Amino acid sequence: MRARKSCNVPALLLAALTLTTISYGQTDEGTPHLRKQGSATQLIVDGKPFLALSGELGNNSATSLENMEPVWPKLVAANMNSVLIGISWAQLEPQEGKFDFTLVDGLIAKARENNLRIVFLWFASWKNGTSSYPPYWVKKDYTRFPRIQIGDGSTVSISGPVELLSTFSEATRDADAAAFGALMRHIKEVDGTKHTVLMMQVENEVGVLRDTRDRSPVANHGFDGPVPVELMKYLEAHKDTLAPELREVWAANGYRKSGTWTEVFGPGKPLSVEIPVQTTMPPMTALEHQDSWQHLHWPSDEIFMAWNYARFIEKVVQTGKAGYNIPMYVNAWLQQPNHAWPGTYPSGGPLPQVHDIWRAGAPDVDILAPDLYLEYFDSVCERFTRNGNPLFIPETSTNPANAIVAAGKYNTIGFSPFGIDGNRPIGPDLAAAYNLLSQLSPMILAHQGNDSMTAVRLSQGDPPRKVKLGNYTLEVSYTGRSRRIAPAPRVPGAPAPPQPDAQEPPMEAAAVLIAAGPDEYYFGGGGVRIDFKPDTPGPPNVGLGDVQEGRFVDGKWQVIRQLAGDDTGQGEILSLRPNTILRVTLYRYP
Ligand code: DGJ
Repeated sequence: MRARKSCNVPALLLAALTLTTISYGQTDEGTPHLRKQGSATQLIVDGKPFLALSGELGNNSATSLENMEPVWPKLVAANMNSVLIGISWAQLEPQEGKFDFTLVDGLIAKARENNLRIVFLWFASWKNGTSSYPPYWVKKDYTRFPRIQIGDGSTVSISGPVELLSTFSEATRDADAAAFGALMRHIKEVDGTKHTVLMMQVENEVGVLRDTRDRSPVANHGFDGPVPVELMKYLEAHKDTLAPELREVWAANGYRKSGTWTEVFGPGKPLSVEIPVQTTMPPMTALEHQDSWQHLHWPSDEIFMAWNYARFIEKVVQTGKAGYNIPMYVNAWLQQPNHAWPGTYPSGGPLPQVHDIWRAGAPDVDILAPDLYLEYFDSVCERFTRNGNPLFIPETSTNPANAIVAAGKYNTIGFSPFGIDGNRPIGPDLAAAYNLLSQLSPMILAHQGNDSMTAVRLSQGDPPRKVKLGNYTLEVSYTGRSRRIAPAPRVPGAPAPPQPDAQEPPMEAAAVLIAAGPDEYYFGGGGVRIDFKPDTPGPPNVGLGDVQEGRFVDGKWQVIRQLAGDDTGQGEILSLRPNTILRVTLYRYP
């Protein structure tokens, strides 16, 4: 004992020294990072996986602390645990090399006061394709910070230089990277051991608008030159797993191993074709239009721009991570049926058809994220989880079913409706879903990435859905809004959340389904009935054992009501009412 004690003294001293020295400008093991768990990638914060139940503020809401005062309580009331906040390069670096971090510090302090985490959005060279957030000293220096050029002055309606900074400028790239690096060093200084800031979004919805690519002389020179060797090598090394949309165009050109952009990937847009605002009009036929929004059109143009945006942003990200290494992502304005051609959406952004190009050009970007307003929610999630891309949804609508499905089926790191402090506030339904997901999150996070969890969504009139999970096949049918519509309060005695308007249209039902053991399930969400069929040898009939309605408090299950009789159809019907969590055990009988 004595010997052991004396041996430990230096270790204790070292530990004490370490504790006292971790403070300003330090990071520790709790620093946010990504970690694989089965097929999922999780955000780890303070050593534990974190499910971000978020909202994104209006673009300029956080440009002053005064303007944010009434916003913080709304975020807390909506049961959010984190918030996405834009930081403007113009405000951060009003004079070149002179940084003002007062606002960043104030936002971090207020978030801590409200028990919220932050994802900052770096609105710098590009925001929605264009360049409205760079500082005045950048905007007015047209020579040092060149803009892209589109059209040839006669064949497109908008021609000549436009207000999009060009990716072909080292000066722009280095100025953006320097500012981002300074921001990240500062965040590390003030937050490196507290971890209020979870992740960074770098730029916002980048890409060329109103044409398929930059047609400035320097861009044309690059476009007429060879595809860079690094990109060709990447494509060859990943040939078997490339996104099918990309492989299709490479295959159509004979999987060439070198050549110009058009030789390797096919034609760019002829100058004679104008980019309309929408693409339902000629020259696209009705048939082409039907599925056109999921393919590459004029592939070499979009691929060329994807590579150049990726290379620019890689430098910004590398500089930022050298200052403070936390997860960083880029977000995409998506191709959609009436905006199917590159240029009607930002051409070259991190869309799924060019994910491989982004992976090759910007390996330090951790996540390629969708701004997901489309009705095809599930298919977008599927395209954004190919090849192990972690899912994070920085912008979306406030549909609670989408939040449940993203967490339970697509292993999302976070869900974040846009504009939640403005005209798209989080209503009672999403607030209730956030309450439910935050209770369930330890269980959801423990099951992400393995096949013991999924989620279903059903609308009124949909046929029942069969799901194999654990030892049973679950048949899930729509029941809709019946009885309970707000969840039980998380803490006994706390006021119940507001109830939705009784006149609302039929709800979309959604539920997370978790197999916790051979005959044990947790179900969260609601508006469904669940029937069970065994998938293992033994007696054919399935009985409901314990049916408990409850809550998780600090990850521990607490029963609110034990259900039988009328609440389970006399033991024969399992209904998951909206915004409830059930723990159910099953047994078999002949
Ligand atoms: C997508 C952008 O990324 C947001 O910043 C915002 O401009 C919304 N569109 C507006 O709907």
